[in-house]
Amino acid sequence: MSDVSRETPATPALPGSARRLFPADRLTLAERYADLLATDGVLRGLIGPREAPRLWDRHLLNCAALSEAVPRQATVADVGSGAGLPGLVLAIARPDVQMTLLEPLLRRTRFLDEVVASLGLADQVEVRRGRAEEMAGGERFAVVTARAVAPLERLLGWCMPLVDADGVFLAMKGSGAADEVAEAAARLDALGCAPPELLELGRDVLAEPVRVVRVAWADPGRVGWPRPAAGSTSPAGRRRSAGERTRRTRRKS
Ligand SMILES: C[S@@+](CC[C@H](N)C(=O)[O-])C[C@H]1O[C@@H](n2cnc3c(N)ncnc32)[C@H](O)[C@@H]1O
Repeated sequence: MSDVSRETPATPALPGSARRLFPADRLTLAERYADLLATDGVLRGLIGPREAPRLWDRHLLNCAALSEAVPRQATVADVGSGAGLPGLVLAIARPDVQMTLLEPLLRRTRFLDEVVASLGLADQVEVRRGRAEEMAGGERFAVVTARAVAPLERLLGWCMPLVDADGVFLAMKGSGAADEVAEAAARLDALGCAPPELLELGRDVLAEPVRVVRVAWADPGRVGWPRPAAGSTSPAGRRRSAGERTRRTRRKS
């Protein structure tokens, strides 16, 4: 990672509420990640300098609160991970999950690769360079997450094809969550989703709870993406071609 200049804002101190959201033996990792975001993340333009002093309150604690909605031992894909939010935070808070961080921009996947190596998380976290829609028809996950990536209606088309038959999509949204659900009604129906649930997470820990739209399939027995047309390739063929298009940037430690 690059040298940290004196002008780089210092990482804010670990807030007491972090102790309720991260296991005791992962607090040091969470602090080291916060430090990397506030230093290298800011220097490399992945986090705005004004975000550094409020990293815990506005970013890390919110993302950690999402773990309430993630089942044990889940495979999780974080779509549009950026500098690792919420995916890296979740991986730190939940050592039991296997995390895939999906991000199309090289500058960001490089940072993610470096953070994963620096924190010693290579066995738990994989970084993939690519767009969510390139992975449709391939691997599926028990949980797919997204934060600040696109409006719900568009996200559904990118993310639901990555969700297991009995899995869920968790979209972190702000105060407009209910409006986004209403706007996405036709899309939800067309994709075969169950009526979404609006969750408020971290109520007893955070000043402001985190709003999450939770979407599952309406009929897990009938999930298929893309819906096969006559003469289309086998699912295995689709998986291969999706895999070929997805550039992997994972580094083995
Ligand atoms: C505003 S940033 C948010 C990053 C992070 N989730 C956060 O909350 O800080 C949106 C991210 O989504 C990524 N992105 C945009 N379109 C995408 C797509 N189709 N598939 C996967 N990632 C995408 C962008 O490259 C960018 O890193």
